[in-house]
Amino acid sequence: MSKMSVNLAGVTLKNPVMTASGTFGSGAEYSEFVDLNHLGAVVTKGVANVPWPGNPTPRVAETTGGMLNAIGLQNPGIDVFCERDIPFLLKYDTKIIVNVCGKTTEDYCEVVERLANEPVDMLEINVSCPNVKEGGIAFGQNPKALEAITKEVKKYAKQPVIMKLSPNVTDITEMARAAESGGADVVSLINTITGMKIDINRRTFALANKTGGMSGPAVKPVAVRMVYQVANAVKIPIIGMGGIASAEDALEFIMAGATAVSVGTANFINPYTTQEVVDGMEAFLEKQKVEDINQLIGCVK
Ligand SMILES: Cc1cc2nc3c(=O)[nH]c(=O)nc-3n(C[C@H](O)[C@H](O)[C@H](O)COP(=O)(O)O)c2cc1C
Repeated sequence: MSKMSVNLAGVTLKNPVMTASGTFGSGAEYSEFVDLNHLGAVVTKGVANVPWPGNPTPRVAETTGGMLNAIGLQNPGIDVFCERDIPFLLKYDTKIIVNVCGKTTEDYCEVVERLANEPVDMLEINVSCPNVKEGGIAFGQNPKALEAITKEVKKYAKQPVIMKLSPNVTDITEMARAAESGGADVVSLINTITGMKIDINRRTFALANKTGGMSGPAVKPVAVRMVYQVANAVKIPIIGMGGIASAEDALEFIMAGATAVSVGTANFINPYTTQEVVDGMEAFLEKQKVEDINQLIGCVK
């Protein structure tokens, strides 16, 4: 077992570095830059039971140290995903984590049930998207609703379930505990933070949706703080994300208590980021004479 290997709910990853949902497609568009065999896992863009068109444009805008997006979970639906994206990813020696979205509990369960017999390793349930009117965040901001949907999804899931938490709450630990008591195997955090940008020349909102989800380096301190809090509140493993653009950023999350990390917005700036994070973490272990990355998980108390 290599010194970079970690275990997430019984799934062994060759290293803790994965992609953040929605920033890497299903891997195909990045595979000319990054050897997907070198990643711990590829987390795919959210997929629903039927195709979703997403929100009207403009739906992305740059901000200081990050960006806003209001894509609205545009996706081709589970049928196309199973026919096109899973076979592509199976060509690589990496774990496949499918991000699932929906408007109702039934929508989520339909996708989860459909994936039960597909060769995917884990499911990540997105109950935290701030950019869709129904579903999504409605589950992710109410602990009772989050616990209930987690329980429902677990009834249909054959793979371990990751519940993706929203930072747009007063107490992230309450949400993490709700996911854990609903039976979640892992939690991932953070999704984007709701924000707004005004285009002063057009005297209107920069995004057609008015608000969007903020991501990128500017959100990292918020994300690290939340990962630390959640690590002290639940026993299940954590996937940390939010602004990771370097190995040093990733190691902050690991030391705060994350077992694995996801790289999101940074992929848009530098498509090689995931590989650079893997290489940089390996070099750090070497330099600091750390035998096993697991020794660093949650080492900051
Ligand atoms: C353009 C874009 C699309 C995203 N789509 C999804 C999605 O489909 N499902 C999801 O759970 N998160 C989605 N996210 C959130 C990211 O996975 C991640 O949680 C967030 O961006 C914070 O990480 P980062 O700062 O490294 O980007 C998206 C983010 C961006 C920027």
